[in-house]
Amino acid sequence: QKPFRIAIIGFGTVGEGVYRTISDQGDKIKGLLGRPIAVTMIVVNQEKNREIGPDVKVTTDFNDLIEEKHLDVVIEATPDAQTAYDYVKRLLEKGTSIVTANKELIAKHGPELHQVAERNHCHLLFEAAVAGGIPLLNTIRHTLKTNNIERIEGILNGTSNFILTKMREGGTSFTEALYEAQEKGYAEVVPDKDINGWDALYKTEILSQWVYGKSPIWTTSKPIGIGSITRETIKLASALKGRMRHIASLSDTGKGIEASVQPYLVCEDHLLYGVDGVNNGIQIQGSIVGSIMLQGPGAGKFPTASAVIEDVINLLTNCHEQRKVTDLVEVEQEVRNNKSAE
Ligand code: NDP
Ligand code: HSE
Repeated sequence: QKPFRIAIIGFGTVGEGVYRTISDQGDKIKGLLGRPIAVTMIVVNQEKNREIGPDVKVTTDFNDLIEEKHLDVVIEATPDAQTAYDYVKRLLEKGTSIVTANKELIAKHGPELHQVAERNHCHLLFEAAVAGGIPLLNTIRHTLKTNNIERIEGILNGTSNFILTKMREGGTSFTEALYEAQEKGYAEVVPDKDINGWDALYKTEILSQWVYGKSPIWTTSKPIGIGSITRETIKLASALKGRMRHIASLSDTGKGIEASVQPYLVCEDHLLYGVDGVNNGIQIQGSIVGSIMLQGPGAGKFPTASAVIEDVINLLTNCHEQRKVTDLVEVEQEVRNNKSAE
């Protein structure tokens, strides 16, 4: 059986997590797809020693990927929109489907890239770009179809929540907690994006496009991050029996879609009060179902790899079905040809 051929751009926390998971879960994935899956090429920025099998071509030249003829999916896991935009656009123009974890890319260029994908009969999926390992986008799109989504409110940045938790639980300083988040692979390459609220803003923008098909009206001129929260703020919050949380909210007010990203003091009875560490927690208010809460790891190697791989499987399963249909059409045609030949 010929394997599905996969390439990965970026071999950091996410890219490596995806590669290891594909290696470890080979049998399970083959069971789901009916064919094995093989990573054939990895594109990185610089040459260094990496634990990658001998069958995989590792390159710093993106053109190697463009020239590769038989690729079923490319996984994109580079740090930002600037790095990824040309790569992704060129691959989509070639008709290659992409799964990305890059929220800045999707927040800034999602609508345009979708059009490119549509024109070239391929797909662009990005479950991992919002809320890490939590299947948030797919839950909204595939299992809340009949509901109008009235409001989404949640913790969307794992690094900020990790820092706030560490400062509260261990009395750790902001800088020490950030360093630990970087060590664990939670923070962005430029962690200012986590701290200043931009990462959560990108995710909220993606949610708005996903749910309402347009950008929201922001209630502040820029996101407000956790940068000015000190240990004194955290102690004061605890004295008031509350906790500091960095919260993104998106709501349909009836007059328009409004969004904000900022820290709040939440009380014990708030749904996000108990969401600690690198976890994200998202409350969705649906018109029929009422309030739903999703909670889980919002960043990290394997949680993010999980979301990426689920997208890959969804993509290949659909292709697989399409191929089966095509095969049937071909078989029917063959039968007709044979009959007319008789
Ligand atoms: P890392 O910094 O760990 O890895 C980035 C990778 O991109 C590195 O392997 C780097 O190569 C490669 N790279 C950088 N520039 C280029 C280039 N010009 N061409 C090819 N490769 C390049 O980042 P993460 O893995 O943490 O994050 C990747 C993406 O996933 C980001 O967009 C992030 O926002 C998103 N994300 C991250 C999560 C996480 O938990 N970390 C969770 C969800 C999404 P080299 O190794 O040679 O330096
Ligand atoms: N830096 C991001 C976070 C990674 O901490 O939430 C997951 O998107």
